[in-house]
Amino acid sequence: MHRFRSFYLNSAIALLLAASQLISAAIVWEPYLEGYRDSLQNFGTFNGRHIGKPGSGLRKSRPVVDVNGNTIPGYDVVYEFDQLIDHNNASRGTFKTRYYHTWEYYREGGPIILFTPGERPIDMILDGSPSITNASIAGAIAQATNGAVVVLEHRFYGESYPFPDLSVDGLKFHTISQALQDFVYFARNVKLAMPGGDGEGIRPHRSPWIFVGGSYAGALAAFIVEQHPGVFWAAYSSAGVVQPKIDFWQYWTPVEQHMPANCTADTKAVVSLIDEAIDSGNQTRRLDIVYRCSELGWYQTGPPNGGGIISKHLNAQAWATFCSEAFPGTLTNSLTEFQARVDAALQQYKGWSTMADRVFIVNGRRDPWLEVTLSATEANISSTDLRPIYLTNGFHCSDMTYVNAIVEPSLGEVWNQALTTFPRWVSDFNGRQGSSASEVGMSPFRLGMVVASAALAIITVL
Ligand SMILES: *[C@@H]1O[C@H](CO)[C@@H](O)[C@H](O)[C@H]1NC(C)=O
Ligand SMILES: *[C@@H]1O[C@H](CO)[C@@H](O)[C@H](O)[C@H]1NC(C)=O
Ligand SMILES: *[C@@H]1O[C@H](CO)[C@@H](O)[C@H](O)[C@H]1NC(C)=O
Ligand SMILES: *[C@@H]1O[C@H](CO)[C@@H](O)[C@H](O)[C@H]1NC(C)=O
Ligand SMILES: *[C@@H]1O[C@H](CO)[C@@H](O)[C@H](O)[C@H]1NC(C)=O
Repeated sequence: MHRFRSFYLNSAIALLLAASQLISAAIVWEPYLEGYRDSLQNFGTFNGRHIGKPGSGLRKSRPVVDVNGNTIPGYDVVYEFDQLIDHNNASRGTFKTRYYHTWEYYREGGPIILFTPGERPIDMILDGSPSITNASIAGAIAQATNGAVVVLEHRFYGESYPFPDLSVDGLKFHTISQALQDFVYFARNVKLAMPGGDGEGIRPHRSPWIFVGGSYAGALAAFIVEQHPGVFWAAYSSAGVVQPKIDFWQYWTPVEQHMPANCTADTKAVVSLIDEAIDSGNQTRRLDIVYRCSELGWYQTGPPNGGGIISKHLNAQAWATFCSEAFPGTLTNSLTEFQARVDAALQQYKGWSTMADRVFIVNGRRDPWLEVTLSATEANISSTDLRPIYLTNGFHCSDMTYVNAIVEPSLGEVWNQALTTFPRWVSDFNGRQGSSASEVGMSPFRLGMVVASAALAIITVL
């Protein structure tokens, strides 16, 4: 790691910090950085088998049909929704947010499964892992509950920009609060292309809406049920990073514990990223650190007493300085102000004390983010029926795709649990309504062992 040393004594420390933040926060990177991210957050393999990626050919391999066998629009059809720029002032107007939508498993009265990829553009998600199909947890929940799936782009990512240029306004409206209200406003106002999708029947008081997200969006999943009661009936929160924390040196512990000792490639990637950050001054990339500079923190600093794989000189003050430079005139380099912002987010969203019912929580033992999730050792939160918490042998968000559930039994178990729990929660919603207007199919899901072992054989061969 000696290449880090040359940075100790100059302002590039801040940029190095930025680099590690960006790597983990931003997915909008060149393939080599994608590789880096995987090596850091999903370092290693499951029992010698590399984590698989679902083939992107999946969506084109067959026409999509509904439960009656009628052909419906393909997975890759992009829909648009007019979203409010400012939920505190509707007269600021609207902007277009993009989404995918399928109703292949939908029966009238079924839930709407809303998945947001958070910082990733929706099309990138669709290519890499078809989150709209049953190869992902959102699609599988839809299949198990006769629900419809929506994959909605988060404001400021992909093509869902509120403003033509990315000025300082980006910071003002790029907040957790506005983002949460986007999903609420969507649920209350969207007209979906599916049959009945333009009526009152799909509104949250008539049909259960289920929020699905991972990482930052996993935190949104936990927050939204509590912050906006009566809108999202249930949520699936994978690696939900719920605990704002300015100085997050614990990040590196699972990395050290589980990463192969040889991290040359990672070091190189960080150095390249610093160069990128210096050279490009790219506005788009800047957005990826907005909510962490303004609300959530998670500066992946070095352990306070040294001895980690990251220098102790990479401290929170260096981050504060970086943020002030990234948002000149908006954020100062004061660590105290920084702490105050993070404290305010903690007070608003409650961190480990977030307590809503019907949030299904999954974390991975080998996830560097573990210690700011609801499975953090320090938090010591117990699992309950209405808020089950699973700690798997997986990585960051590795529970969200079926290919991982095949190779790692603890993830397979999470899939089994999710696909029996969500149908139960959906029928609880219908029970709550005191109506049996619609019979929602509740076929219990079982991981098909034939499919699983066939897929396993394929993965082993690859
Ligand atoms: C609301 O937005 C409009 C249009 O941008 C602006 O003229 C008005 O001053 C805003 N109101 C408040 C209270 O910020
Ligand atoms: C996805 O659905 C198809 C049928 O449409 C089924 O054959 C397959 O087993 C399902 N996959 C999962 C992971 O549930
Ligand atoms: C580190 O890994 C690279 C690539 O796998 C390899 O070429 C190199 O010899 C390794 N270095 C050490 C010290 O193991
Ligand atoms: C900034 O980065 C984004 C995402 O990588 C890219 O699409 C865009 O073209 C870049 N803009 C500039 C001005 O380099
Ligand atoms: C964790 O919580 C349980 C009760 O839920 C308690 O018995 C136990 O002592 C706690 N452990 C720590 C380390 O606080």
